[in-house]
Parts: sequence; C-alpha cells; structure tokens
Amino acid sequence: MQPESSHSSFLQALQGEAVAPPPVWLMRQAGRYLPEYRQLREKAGSFWKLCMTPELAAEVTLHPIRRFGFDAAIIFSDILVIPYALGQTVAFPESSGPVVEEPHRTLELSPTIWHERLRLVYEAVHLVRDSLDLSTPLIGFAGAPWTLALYMLTGRSLDAYSATTARRHELENLIPALTDAITFHLDTQLQSGADAIQLFDSHAGLLGEKDFEALVIEPTQRVVEKLRHNHPKALVIGFPRGASKNGYLRYAQVTGVNAVSLDQNVSLLWATDALAGVTLQGNLDPAVLVAGGERLDRGVDEIICAGKGRPFIFNLGHGVLPETPLQNVERMLKRVRSAA
Ligand code: CP3
Repeated sequence: MQPESSHSSFLQALQGEAVAPPPVWLMRQAGRYLPEYRQLREKAGSFWKLCMTPELAAEVTLHPIRRFGFDAAIIFSDILVIPYALGQTVAFPESSGPVVEEPHRTLELSPTIWHERLRLVYEAVHLVRDSLDLSTPLIGFAGAPWTLALYMLTGRSLDAYSATTARRHELENLIPALTDAITFHLDTQLQSGADAIQLFDSHAGLLGEKDFEALVIEPTQRVVEKLRHNHPKALVIGFPRGASKNGYLRYAQVTGVNAVSLDQNVSLLWATDALAGVTLQGNLDPAVLVAGGERLDRGVDEIICAGKGRPFIFNLGHGVLPETPLQNVERMLKRVRSAA
C-alpha cells in the first residue's frame, strides 16, 4: 500500500518537491554496524539465511527504523538474488567479497518460475509493508544490468576489461536478459508493497564513455521504461556510482529516473546546478561518518547547504561501513534534522 505521500518527506522529495529539513536514509542502513544485526546474523548462521527467511529479513529491515527513525526503509536483500534466481551459485564467504560461480544456465524464465525462485524476497516485502508505519515508505531495489552482468561473468575479480573485450559477446547476450529479469523483480517488489525503488549500478565507474552509454545509460533507460508500462508512476532512484560528470549528466537527462544518487567523489554543488530536473540524493563520505566529530558536522553542513531549496534526499555516497560508531549516526541525524 502506498503511504500518503503528503505524510512522507521522502516521497515528496522524490516527486520533485524541496523539503526542509530533507528526508534522510542511508544505503546499508541495516547491517554489521548494528549490534542487533550482528546478533540476529549469528543466530541465523549466515547472511544468505537472513535474506531468504522472510521473517528475519523483515526484522533486519526494521532494525534501523526502530533505532534511528530514518525517513525510509530499504528491504533487506542483496543485488545477487538475481544471478541466484537465474541459476548461478552465489556465496558470501566471511573473508572476502561475494563469489558468483559460472555457468549461468537458465536465462529464459517464465514469470511463474521466477516468482517461485524469489518468493521469499517478495514475502519479506509484504511483511515489512504490513508492519511498517504507513508514514514510512519502503524502498525495493535491484542491481542494474551492467553491475549484475559483471558479477555474473567475472565473479569477484570484477574484471571490467575482460567483460567488455574478450567476453563482449556473452556480455551483449546477458544485458537484455538481465534487463527483463530486473524489470520483473522490481515490478514484483512494487506489487508486494514497495513504494519506490533504487537501481544500484555500483561498478558504473569502471566504464569508459562509450561503454557507459551502451551498458549503463541504454539498459537503465529500458528498465525504467518497461517498469512504467505496469507502474506509470513508479518512483525510481538510480545510483551510477563512480560515473564521470558527463556520465552523471547523461544519466540524469536520458534514463528517466526521478532521482540520481551521487557518490562522495562528485561535487554536490556542481550537481545541484548541472543536474536540473531530477531529485538528488547523497553524498556524505561513509568514512566521514566513521570519523565523527567536527569533520562530520562540517560534512553534513556542506551537504545540507548545497541541497537547500531543491528536491534533495540526504544519504551517504556509498554504504554504511561496518566500523561506523552508532553515536556518529545519532549525531548526523540530529544535525540534518535541525537544519531548516
Ligand atoms: O541497504 C540496505 O540496508 C539493504 C541491504 C543491501 C545489502 N546489499 C545487504 C548486504 C543492499 C541494498 C545491498 C546491495 C548490494 N549488494 C550492492 C550494491 C550497493 C553497493 O554496496 O555497491 C552490491 C555491490 C552487493 C553485493 C555484495 N553483497 C557485496 C559486495 C557484499 C560484501 C561486502 C560486504 O559489505 O560485506 C555483500 C554482502 C552484504 N549485502 C552484506 C549486507 C548487509 C554484508 C553481509 C554480512 O556479512 O552480514
């Protein structure tokens, strides 16, 4: 159920309104920096078990909302559920990044089979929407085609050069199939109760200008367009992490997203001017949130000042780091919320 947008500063900002103070949520707001997360993960035994047990995924989604009262929740899941649904083996070893094992076999999935494979994710979305206060919107998400294709083809080596040259043919077959899979996954999250969605293109920054256009801009535009067939008013945030200025500009102008999430290396001041017509989200450096103190205060003030008077959502430039002290999150929130 869609919360009353008039009660949600996050949805207002996403629809293009300037809101003061701006709404705030954080990428990876549920996770290892929270003692309640570490405890539940220990009990469950693994990260994947948390993702694939609807009651646990729902509980973890609510942890940061209960503790901090963020202005939006994001469903606890992972971008790698799509490679999993497509038949790849996905593992999250303690000591390294995730492992995605080839080969990917079953690219042609009927909607019924797809729904069955990710049923537990959609159940978690339902559960969260049912237990979340109506005034708190829920964000669904997916990895974008390029970032997912990179994991699927090269595993944890994330070898963009190999993916775009030696394995170009496989890449070009994979992107359209992923575009369909992602659209279906987002569509079903919206049907299950998500109020907005975010597309994570975490490795967009590894591409040169021409490949950025073919592998980030074009497929993202297709996902947004296809999603809006069934959900004409779908609210979409895109995160082409590490893109160049020109890349961010093209992304804001062409893809059809409502909001662009900026990483911490982009000047928000530049973006407020150059990226007119979209809501901006970001972009405090996660390391500054770890540092705390006056550095944190200055970082928050700069961002609040740059985002003032235009549609803006306060967030980090990437996910919360596990070593982030809880009191720094409190301090940041207090400062954002006292801004008028
Ligand atoms: O933001 C949220 O709170 C929602 C949950 C969420 C997770 N992953 C949980 C998670 C979201 C939105 C993601 C997205 C995701 N997953 C991305 C895109 C965003 C980004 O960080 O660039 C990517 C690239 C992945 C793939 C992935 N999953 C990696 C690289 C890792 C290992 C790195 C790490 O932080 O451990 C994961 C595991 C993962 N996904 C964890 C969490 C909370 C840590 C699991 C644990 O050890 O408990």
